[in-house]
Amino acid sequence: MYKIDNHKVSDAARAVSHLDEAGYERLYRQSLEQPDQFWAEQAERFLTWEKPWSKVHQSDLSKGEAAWFIDGKLNVSVNCIDRHLAERGDATAIIWEGDNPEDDAHISYRQLHEKVCRLANVLKARGIKKGDRVCLYMPMIPEAAYAMLACARIGAVHSVVFGGFSPDAVRDRILDSDCQAVITADEGVRGGKAVALKTSVEKALKDCPNVHTVVTVRRTGADIPWNENRDIWYHEATAAVSADCPAEAMDSEDPLFILYTSGSTGKPKGVLHTTGGYLLMASMTHHYVFDYHPGEVYWCTADVGWITGHSYIVYGPLCNGATTLLFEGVPTYPDASRCWQVIDKHQVNIFYTAPTALRALMAKGNEPVKSSSRASLRLLGTVGEPINPEAWEWYFDVVGERRCPIVDTWWQTETGAAMITPLPGSTDLKPGSATRPFFGVEPALYDPEGNELEGATSGNLVIKRSWPSQIRTVYGDHQRLVDTYFSTYKGVYFTGDGARRDEDGYYWITGRVDDVLNVSGHRIGTAEVESALVLHDAVAEAAVVGCPHDIKGQCLYVYVSPMNGVTPSDELVKELKSFVADQVGAFARPEYIQWAPGLPKTRSGKIMRRILRKIACDELDTLGDTSTLADPSVVEELIANRLNQA
Ligand code: PRX
Repeated sequence: MYKIDNHKVSDAARAVSHLDEAGYERLYRQSLEQPDQFWAEQAERFLTWEKPWSKVHQSDLSKGEAAWFIDGKLNVSVNCIDRHLAERGDATAIIWEGDNPEDDAHISYRQLHEKVCRLANVLKARGIKKGDRVCLYMPMIPEAAYAMLACARIGAVHSVVFGGFSPDAVRDRILDSDCQAVITADEGVRGGKAVALKTSVEKALKDCPNVHTVVTVRRTGADIPWNENRDIWYHEATAAVSADCPAEAMDSEDPLFILYTSGSTGKPKGVLHTTGGYLLMASMTHHYVFDYHPGEVYWCTADVGWITGHSYIVYGPLCNGATTLLFEGVPTYPDASRCWQVIDKHQVNIFYTAPTALRALMAKGNEPVKSSSRASLRLLGTVGEPINPEAWEWYFDVVGERRCPIVDTWWQTETGAAMITPLPGSTDLKPGSATRPFFGVEPALYDPEGNELEGATSGNLVIKRSWPSQIRTVYGDHQRLVDTYFSTYKGVYFTGDGARRDEDGYYWITGRVDDVLNVSGHRIGTAEVESALVLHDAVAEAAVVGCPHDIKGQCLYVYVSPMNGVTPSDELVKELKSFVADQVGAFARPEYIQWAPGLPKTRSGKIMRRILRKIACDELDTLGDTSTLADPSVVEELIANRLNQA
């Protein structure tokens, strides 16, 4: 056993790591000074190409344009499966751990190849071809990974919709990207409860005439609605086709997937990622950030419905020939020791989770952790939101017993891969800091006027140059991409996050500076929840803000102005909370709903969210100037009736 003192890079981490401190400095410098040479070397090392590129990179960030490995051809499923078969065909690609601790499975690379080929052939037989969009609405079962890779094999573009989303949310996403097929399961299982996926798909498809095929995996055997003209069973259809499917040679810039994410305005955006650059950064960061060594068992607890599941359960690890664990359940079922039991059961070496899960587990005390050995653990990671130093120290002391470095990885759906993150053998850690940029990533802090800030300071976090796994467009609306990310500051990518940089050049992400909330690591646009609420007959107007929450990080605090004639009641509050959960998804259920006869507005009618936020957070000392409001008296009333008082 080895120890880490003062969070410095430990000898043991340095000894096993792919890089030491000097190695990071050297490669980082090279990545900025000779980017084409650097990225060409990495693309050759990490990926297998069917045809080499003619140009490494071309971009114009003022137009939101970027292209990587131009004219190069490759297939993602070949990189994630076929090329490992000769040496690692019998090695485990996926360990599946079911919701029930007695259910598990090991899928070898050879089995993965067969499963993916068969499903790809099913899609082809149903007329799905290169460029077509396929919606995946799946529980956390191996078939979710098969489905992603089957799409990639034939060049279809998948759009995974998180299984916790409502039928309306599924419908909107299917329509936005005009998906023609859906892959789902009869039901999912989480925390001992069934999730009715196929029934939700059925509701969603009432308004989606272009979906001609639904492939359903039988997970629980529950009774489900069935449409003979459109529906096929996964097990029947895959048994009836060939176990071999040639892979489509894709252009490096061909789309790989669309993933919807929330922004500060309007409906969710379909973030589009392409093939070569995305896969390169997913695999390269998986290699360096998790310091993955062949034979190790790696577990990321995310859901495949989010970008973390895409890059760090499926594409990054499989591209590297790793063993990736896919967990169907939740960290607290059957009890709070589940994660640690799973680590012992499968001898997990690398564990990657979200701060919200750690805070929830920390609240249950140390006993559930101590009841396990965790001797196999070598490295820990976090993602999704800022980690408070208390949770970091608990993770480090109790879970990792002071011997496992923690990689706090900052990134976004739009960045495709980790951007600011420690590398275990190279970076001294500071609890709560995502530390230093990954290779090729040039972060900077800007003031609101667009001046770059130097030295130790705070500001808005931007990325100054293109990186391979950068978002290529917002599906169907390139102007929205430009407006959202490339217009706040000309010529750079604006992240929407604020950050501090300390005297050592370490970055500390402080959270979103726009109207996007982060609830238990789920990104929620306030506008989305507001538009859902005003669909309810009792609601005239709604304003949503975030306030701190011990476990979830943030929670939703909602102000609702009732329609004329509606009498506010506790019953109605309950109904509205459920209404939001139905419209958007259970994770968006508001914590507080306060009745607001009036909302604070400027004379031009703009809601003053800053004031609503202060009231929701019970920060009345710093309320600021309310004299510019059309009717300052509404503030007094809201304060008097606030729900979140210390
Ligand atoms: O605010 C940042 C926060 O999560 C946002 C991105 O959310 P999403 O696209 O859903 O992707 C989450 C998983 C990559 C960011 O704008 N965030 C993510 N990671 C961190 C973080 N905030 C602080 N520290 C992190 N490590």
